[in-house]
Amino acid sequence: MARTKKIRVGVLFGGRSGEHEISLRSALTVMSAMDPGRYEIVPIGIGRDGRWFLRSDAIAMLRHAAPKLRALGRGGAPVSLLPEPQGRALVNAPTRNGVPATKGRAPTMPGPLDVVFPVLHGTYGEDGTVQGLLELAGIPYVGAGVLGSALGMDKDAQKRILLASGIPVVRHFALTRSQADEDARAARRIADELGYPVFVKPNALGSSIGISKVKNGRALAAAVADAFQYDRKILLEASCAGREFECAVLGNDRPEASVVGEILIKGHEFYSYESKYVDPEGAEVRIPADLPAKVAERIREISAAAFKALALRGMARVDFLARADLSELFVNEVNTIPGFTSISMYPKLWEASGVALPRLIDQLIELALGDARDRARLKFTYQPRTS
Ligand SMILES: Nc1ncnc2c1ncn2[C@@H]1O[C@H](COP(=O)(O)OP(=O)(O)O)[C@@H](O)[C@H]1O
Ligand SMILES: [Mg+2]
Repeated sequence: MARTKKIRVGVLFGGRSGEHEISLRSALTVMSAMDPGRYEIVPIGIGRDGRWFLRSDAIAMLRHAAPKLRALGRGGAPVSLLPEPQGRALVNAPTRNGVPATKGRAPTMPGPLDVVFPVLHGTYGEDGTVQGLLELAGIPYVGAGVLGSALGMDKDAQKRILLASGIPVVRHFALTRSQADEDARAARRIADELGYPVFVKPNALGSSIGISKVKNGRALAAAVADAFQYDRKILLEASCAGREFECAVLGNDRPEASVVGEILIKGHEFYSYESKYVDPEGAEVRIPADLPAKVAERIREISAAAFKALALRGMARVDFLARADLSELFVNEVNTIPGFTSISMYPKLWEASGVALPRLIDQLIELALGDARDRARLKFTYQPRTS
């Protein structure tokens, strides 16, 4: 039997965002589920300082670091990706201040990457920046492109597009640091207008970092100051107390939506970082959510519509807020690189929909390669017409 060539997949993990440690957990799950008969994995760890390392020891190293939520430790060969499409390969990292980045003989680099799976959450990973580099390097990649990734990260821009597409979102106002500096009462006026409790959050972050549920005017200033530590733009949102649902979307032009899951928060005011990752009893996941079939179908429809409206590709998890009596349903946000940890909703929702993790990864890689094949047919030059 003829052996088909393995697909060489660069897996990116770690990164400069506050979700570095979560990314390590996600990457461990993804790499462990990839069929070694089908893929040659090229593990690329990105340190908190943004440096890239080829980590052949990735799986063993992550098994050690990920459960403890530790940052990526030292090790591996420093590598870079050039912003030009000829090689599609990692190169030895250039010298730093004249000192070679690697002592001794430079390590052998893997051949051209067929595709990259960025398992990075948050800033400089999920926001279109890494996607831009991969575009320049001419390497197909899993997940949303530059625009979709940027919209997925920017909650304010995302909500504007969803609203314009007729998709319900909670009432909100954005506030920049310069606006707040000019007008010290701006946040107070917005909160009074929305009514308490009000959610205050950095515009472009994740994992609930910097988010507060503010119950009264006295607590507002501290929440605003906290959110401004992480972003120059923050959002103040009307609260939608009740239930939280999540739906997984997979596909390119004809996205499919999974069964719906519910997050049940235990002993925390909302789905905070602690309830997500620190307190093992902080939240429970129910798949499928206990919902009338009509509501579940509506959530699936809205999820696919949001995916299209935001120009997404490959995958996304669409998160919802709902009133307890289900009288209202809002898209809270989309995540273009959803968590892939062993307990994460995205892979679990697909598993419950009949797509096990190894098959899900196959599909995501095929979607990335399919999109690249399709785009390769586009013309990049123009011959002016002569009349
Ligand atoms: N407007 C809101 N009403 C009620 N709960 C909210 C609201 N906004 C955020 N939350 C709570 O905070 C959590 C995190 O907010 P989210 O906007 O999803 O940020 P992140 O991108 O960090 O996940 C949500 O899962 C929910 O529990
Ligand atoms: Mg969220």
